[in-house]
Amino acid sequence: MQINSIEAYELAYQKSVEKPEQFWGEIAQSFHWRKPWFKVLSWNFRDPEIKWFEGAKLNITENCLDRHLAAHADKAAIIWEPNDPEQDSITLTYKMLHERVCRFANVLKRNGAKKGDRICIYMPMVPELAIAVLACARIGAVHSVVFGGFSAKSIADRINDAACKLVVTADGAYRGNKKIELKEVIDDALIGCPTVEKVIVLTHTRTPVSMLKGRDVWWEDEVKHVNDVCEAEEMDAEDLLFILYTSGSTGKPKGVVHTCGGYMVYAGYTFSNVFNYQPGEVYFCTADIGWITGHSYIIYGPLSQGATSVIFEGIPTYPDASRFWQVVDKHQVNILYTAPTAIRSLMSYGDEPLKNAGLESLRVLGSVGEPINEEAWHWFDEKIGKGNCPIVDTWWQTETGGIMISPIANVTKTKPSYATLPLPGIQPCLVDENGQEIIGNGVSGNLCIKFPWPGMLRTTYGDHERCRQTYFSAYPDMYFTGDGCLRDEDGYYRITGRVDDVINVSGHRIGTAEVENAINMHAGVVESAVVGFPHEVKGQGIFAFVIYPEHHADEELTRKDILQTVTRMIGAIAKPDKILFVSGLPKTRSGKIMRRILRKIAEGDMTNLGDTSTLLDPAVVTEIIDRAQKK
Ligand code: PRX
Repeated sequence: MQINSIEAYELAYQKSVEKPEQFWGEIAQSFHWRKPWFKVLSWNFRDPEIKWFEGAKLNITENCLDRHLAAHADKAAIIWEPNDPEQDSITLTYKMLHERVCRFANVLKRNGAKKGDRICIYMPMVPELAIAVLACARIGAVHSVVFGGFSAKSIADRINDAACKLVVTADGAYRGNKKIELKEVIDDALIGCPTVEKVIVLTHTRTPVSMLKGRDVWWEDEVKHVNDVCEAEEMDAEDLLFILYTSGSTGKPKGVVHTCGGYMVYAGYTFSNVFNYQPGEVYFCTADIGWITGHSYIIYGPLSQGATSVIFEGIPTYPDASRFWQVVDKHQVNILYTAPTAIRSLMSYGDEPLKNAGLESLRVLGSVGEPINEEAWHWFDEKIGKGNCPIVDTWWQTETGGIMISPIANVTKTKPSYATLPLPGIQPCLVDENGQEIIGNGVSGNLCIKFPWPGMLRTTYGDHERCRQTYFSAYPDMYFTGDGCLRDEDGYYRITGRVDDVINVSGHRIGTAEVENAINMHAGVVESAVVGFPHEVKGQGIFAFVIYPEHHADEELTRKDILQTVTRMIGAIAKPDKILFVSGLPKTRSGKIMRRILRKIAEGDMTNLGDTSTLLDPAVVTEIIDRAQKK
């Protein structure tokens, strides 16, 4: 099923458009199904209702584990590289991973979990995180992984939205030279989560934790009480596999729902093709499993293809900025998949950290999460790939389940900062404000997808109407991505960034409304408006305009207080980089904040503010500019 030439790509693409059911039906044959489907696809984008591989039965873990045992039991499935380079790394073969997943699946059952239950996972980047995820899938429980950087309140909101029955966590996590007390955060979260019956706690940092009788149990104790035989639950192709929360333009994060069959096929197919994965190769994705990239391209995609996937606990700059390159050399990594923000951050350290880096094992490089600027692209190409490794700039989203627009390694001619061409099965189109499709090349517009693909979201958990509204109502019969995009003369796609009120900070999606809600919770704050601004390392930074009329002797302290509130309400990842105190916000007569103006001011471009005549009080703008310039 691997595409090895541009001609093969073109043929595959054509077939995927002309005969999509036949195309995906054939690809799906390379997976293990307990029972075949009677219909490959039924869909409409109005409701929306999308079903792939209807009637088919499977368990994704049989595809990620069991089916490799006959020939590859002793092959490395996971290589774990700890935060501390002095500590030993751990290799889990497919046989070992299978045993541990089955054992932990039995632990979940022993603690009351069954098919359909939702389980929240809040863990560090350790092999047990992947084991917990796969164990949920093994018994048909729906996992909802929450990134370790979210606050107790954010976790509680997510747990309550999905009515999770169990939580799997650890005492703590390491991040560079910091220790993060995960269990303590969970304890705070659970004060407001009545549905949670049990918490399974892994020992990792050996931080003292409170263990509540009847609710909290230790992972290490539990695994002693069960064996490692666990028959996989038979799942319908359209049964839920997981929920992953993501930010949109409204205040509340949405639980994006992925289902078993289509997601598996899409994650596996795209992994194998985009990276041109060859048997025996070591693949290293630097994302956190708490994001979709980790779900699809650390766990499900690679393992479904029998690959060796590196899980790295640490950060690129600890103990120093050569860490990624050390990991690459130590484990002889062939494929490295990372984010522009990491590349830009490492670039800023110059050549010194690369002095002792061999990097000869590398064959393919990948980028994900945000637009990659040309400078970073060239640095990645020249310094890391030594001009010999294709860079796959992969565009996709939590909602798409897998990579959508991307070069195929060694097949598609790459072009700096272009995600290039749609993968087979993906029918992108650009539309103008009136919803008209823009035909031809050398054009730009809003990026939509015209036809379903197996990895697409099916709903937003507990609120199907919200899914319809958010993705399928802006343009009839199309999935709207929220991204702006241009298509150049060669038909190559370049993603230009979000066109809605979502900011992409270091590849993490943050809704401006969410941050505003958090800031507005701070005592004394009357109103706020949050916009993104270009940031050298993070891609975008968060700029908050805040109305805070109280007389504050120490502005700096108030700023810090506000940051503390945001950290409590959402998590440290949502802290604004800049806060400007203002006495009013530019609003239209109907009371809408004109973010366009605020974005310009945040960018430092005060001269080109466009038409301000529709503002209720144009003087506000003068005042804001004045304050911004004084700062
Ligand atoms: O704006 C696009 C940007 O990240 C958004 C999706 O974010 P999230 O759901 O968190 O998933 C990130 C990892 C898949 C998109 O709407 N984005 C993602 N990849 C790229 C990108 N922008 C430009 N180029 C990319 N390669």
